[in-house]
Amino acid sequence: MRASQVPRGQMTRTDVRNRPWSVRGGAPRLAHTPAADGPAAPKRDLMNEQIQTHEELFTSGAYVREFQPEGPANPFAADYARKRKAVIDAVAGVDQRILDVGGGMGRMSIPLSARHFVTLTDLSPQMLDLARPHASGRLTMRVADARALPFDDGGFDYVLCIDVLPHVPDPATVLSEAGRVLRPGGTLIIDSTSSLPLWTLAYPRYLGRRPHRWLQIWRSGGVLPEWRARVRHRRRRQFVDYLAAAGFKITTLRGFGPRPFPKWHLAVAVKQWQ
Ligand SMILES: C[S@@+](CC[C@H](N)C(=O)[O-])C[C@H]1O[C@@H](n2cnc3c(N)ncnc32)[C@H](O)[C@@H]1O
Repeated sequence: MRASQVPRGQMTRTDVRNRPWSVRGGAPRLAHTPAADGPAAPKRDLMNEQIQTHEELFTSGAYVREFQPEGPANPFAADYARKRKAVIDAVAGVDQRILDVGGGMGRMSIPLSARHFVTLTDLSPQMLDLARPHASGRLTMRVADARALPFDDGGFDYVLCIDVLPHVPDPATVLSEAGRVLRPGGTLIIDSTSSLPLWTLAYPRYLGRRPHRWLQIWRSGGVLPEWRARVRHRRRRQFVDYLAAAGFKITTLRGFGPRPFPKWHLAVAVKQWQ
């Protein structure tokens, strides 16, 4: 498929490659993406072909280059760092068996493996490759789909699922799998991005300079137009309801980002069934 045939709002490899808040010529600006905004690239090139499936976005390696949450160009870097610390601090004691679902390059897993036994999983082998130099007796890696985890029931004390829900259309399946592999009384640490888009106002580099895009972003609950077909933000209430429906009792629910309209809600929740 040529780039010119990619419907508006759908993701191409070019979109993934162009960080929307990329810095050019020293000044932060929104990257121009043909699929979202305008004239298409004239000739076919593999990087412009539409990413067809959920799996391909992550397994193609396209996404791995772009997820740099704590890099200086990322407008959310400080909040990503705060959320990461909160996740790590929420794991109590020592020698806990932790499963990190969609754990990427191991931002949580690597530091946690200093005191615990961590299984880092992700759909993307390229993400796991970034963590591989840190593999040890306390940190193992495995390619795994959050929707069908290759682990026995009840084998983990903690499951982490950070920045993954926005990428999955059906949170109930992921929550059910997380619950299945947790021991009774085990803890799920999970977050969701808020679809109440007021948080975007606190990150001007995310919004960019083009007012017509602001409206698109606000209308889609804070999702950039070129990510609209791939990413889902949710209301706090929806997130809480998903957890309750999956049999979890929330013990803490914290916002990260601007008050009183946080970008993320981070829940620590306990599995309630045997
Ligand atoms: C935004 S990154 C978050 C990575 C990590 N949890 C962190 O906070 O640093 C989302 C991750 O989810 C992974 N992912 C997306 N869909 C997945 C699925 N169905 N199963 C497992 N991992 C998935 C991606 O490959 C990516 O590494």
